Formats: sequence, C-alpha cells, structure tokens
Amino acid sequence: MKILLKVWMRMNFKEELRIRTDYADNVVKEFLPEEEGFNKELCEAMNYSVNAGGKRLRPILLHTFYKLFGGDSDIVKPCMAAYEMLHTYSLVHDDLPAIDNDNYRRGMPTTHARFGEATAILAGDGLLHQAYETFIKIFDTEISTRTVKALKIFGDKTGINGMLGGQSADVLHTGEIISDELLYYIYEKKTGALIEGAMLTGSVLAGCNDEDLAKIKRVGELVGLAFQIKDDIFDYFHDESIGKPTGNDMLEGKLTLPVLYALLHTQDKEMLALVPKIKSMTATTDEIAQLIEFAKANGGIDYAEDIMMQYKEEALLLLSEVRNESVRRALTAYIEYVVERTK
Ligand code: IPE
Ligand code: IPE
Ligand code: MG
Ligand code: MG
Ligand code: MG
Repeated sequence: MKILLKVWMRMNFKEELRIRTDYADNVVKEFLPEEEGFNKELCEAMNYSVNAGGKRLRPILLHTFYKLFGGDSDIVKPCMAAYEMLHTYSLVHDDLPAIDNDNYRRGMPTTHARFGEATAILAGDGLLHQAYETFIKIFDTEISTRTVKALKIFGDKTGINGMLGGQSADVLHTGEIISDELLYYIYEKKTGALIEGAMLTGSVLAGCNDEDLAKIKRVGELVGLAFQIKDDIFDYFHDESIGKPTGNDMLEGKLTLPVLYALLHTQDKEMLALVPKIKSMTATTDEIAQLIEFAKANGGIDYAEDIMMQYKEEALLLLSEVRNESVRRALTAYIEYVVERTK
C-alpha cells in the first residue's frame, strides 16, 4: 500500500512539475528582449541560451515559496524571470573556454560554440543586466520594505558573496585537493546561493517573518549543497539525457567530492600521481577514466551520496515544522526531486 502511494505521489509530482515548468518558462519569456536593431545578434544570443531549456528550478522554487507564505500577485513574475536570467548568464560564462570550456549544454551547443566567444561574453553580461532591469520592475507595483529586502537578497546571492564568489574560488582552486571547508564554500556559493536566494526572495516578497526566513535560509543552503553534489555525481556516469557532457570535470581540471574522497583515503601512488596531471590538464582520457573507476571502486560515489542524503534529511526535518500540510507535501517532493532527478 505504501509503495502504491509513493508511486501515485511520484506520478502526481511529475505532472505538477511539468505544469510548473511550463508556467516558469512562459514567465521568463515575457521578459526577454526583442531581437531587432543593431543589437539584434546580442539579443539573439541572450535568448538562445535562455530558450535552450533548463529545468527552471530557481523560478519554480521562488514561486512555490511565494505561495507558501500566502503571496498572490503578479509581482513575483519579474523576480522569477530575473533568477533564471541570472542563472543562465552564470552558465554561459561557466562554459566559456577560459572557465570550463564546454561546448554542449541543455542539449544544444553552448552559446560561445554557437555565436563565438566575444558574443557569448556579451550575452552573459546582457543577461546579467537584463536580470536586474527585470527584477526592479517590482518597484513599478510596490515600493516597500519587502520589495527592497527582496532586491537586497538578489544582490547578495548573485554577487561576490554569492554565486560569483563561489565561481571565483572554483576557478582559482581548480585541480587542487582542497579542504572540506573550501569545497563546501564553493558548493554553497556557486550553486547554493541562487537556490537559497530564490527561496528567500519568494518568501520575503510574500511577507514571511524573520524567524521563518532563518529556517528557509538553512533549507536553501542544504538543498543547494545536495543539488551540486548530485551535479558532480552525474559527471561519473555516461548518460546522454543529462543534456551536457559527462566525464568532463576532470578534463576541465576539476576534482569533485567522489574522487577527492577516494584520493584522501588511499596510498595508491599511481592514482595520487595523476593529481598534478589533472591540475595541469595534461591527463589523458584513459587516465581520467582510471580515476573515475578508482573513485567508484573506493567508495567515492557512496560517500557523496551519503552526504547528499544527510543534507536532504536535515532539510526535510526543518520542513516538517511547516504547518500547512499541502505546502509541506509540495516542498518535500521538490527536495526529493533534487536528489532523485535524472538530469
Ligand atoms: C547547472 O544548473 C549548474 C549548476 C548550478 C550545478 P541546472 O542543473 O539547474 O541547469 P539547468 O538550468 O537545468 O540547465
Ligand atoms: C556551475 O557549476 C555553477 C555555476 C554556473 C554558477 P558546474 O561547472 O559544475 O556546472 P555544470 O556542470 O557546468 O552545469
Ligand atoms: Mg564550473
Ligand atoms: Mg561547468
Ligand atoms: Mg558540474
């Protein structure tokens, strides 16, 4: 009986997710620039990356938390679009040759692969500006403590103490065996900050109090960390449906949690000798494949999954305090989705 209920809930969630993704998609599209005039190619490149797809997780979460705290107006729409634009800008720049050098994203060629590097840099900048121009449209409707607070959160979670701070530490320490503290800083900032920011923005806009906000902040951190660990695990398994290449992190000089764990618990000189090669990006595909297998065989994936599940459980525990049962069920389903997702 319990299993049947779980299957039914999962089917329900799948349908609900599809409806919410379509809704977020339409909201984001409302705020994209027209493709005309001398800046046409720039706008095309901006729209290309946003329209390539994506799970729209951040606007969906923002909207869900807005509803959770009783929000019921269109003021939430520019904020939803702004988060997706900002997230997409972070991906466009993340894929650039100088950063992760990726040619495939959301099942399509990356922006620089399609439009060239210069246009991709500008399209990322364009999306960043468009995100702020879009966000501040909330002031056309309401200038109040909560709308100002919402904008402050956006600035904080996207800037040097948020996503950008995480990206810079990620780039700076590429290929190093880093401390747990730094690893979690990178995860929490580069990925967690926008997820947490989306949850907080939706909550604040709907008038959530400071006590609840502190709880949401922790839930956001936990979900963000779990989300990035899942993203890293994807890289160890070949699966076309993920929409981006796998086996790429080490090619890009990056050592993620599973292989870091395995390396920190081994005396295997041959494997340890590959670390400098990863950092200098001179490891062959064969050597990277060996490291991937080594991480798998030495408990790296199990360890990363365990940590991810611990974060999930802590987030679920916090949510168990939400009194409204249907809201609690919806949020629980999203958290389960973050760790169970297949792309
Ligand atoms: C990918 O984010 C980059 C990370 C922060 C790990 P998503 O997995 O949310 O990417 P899209 O938006 O669905 O393409
Ligand atoms: C990217 O992390 C995080 C941001 C873009 C802010 P990753 O580099 O792991 O993301 P993917 O794997 O390219 O999507
Ligand atoms: Mg990256
Ligand atoms: Mg990347
Ligand atoms: Mg990744």
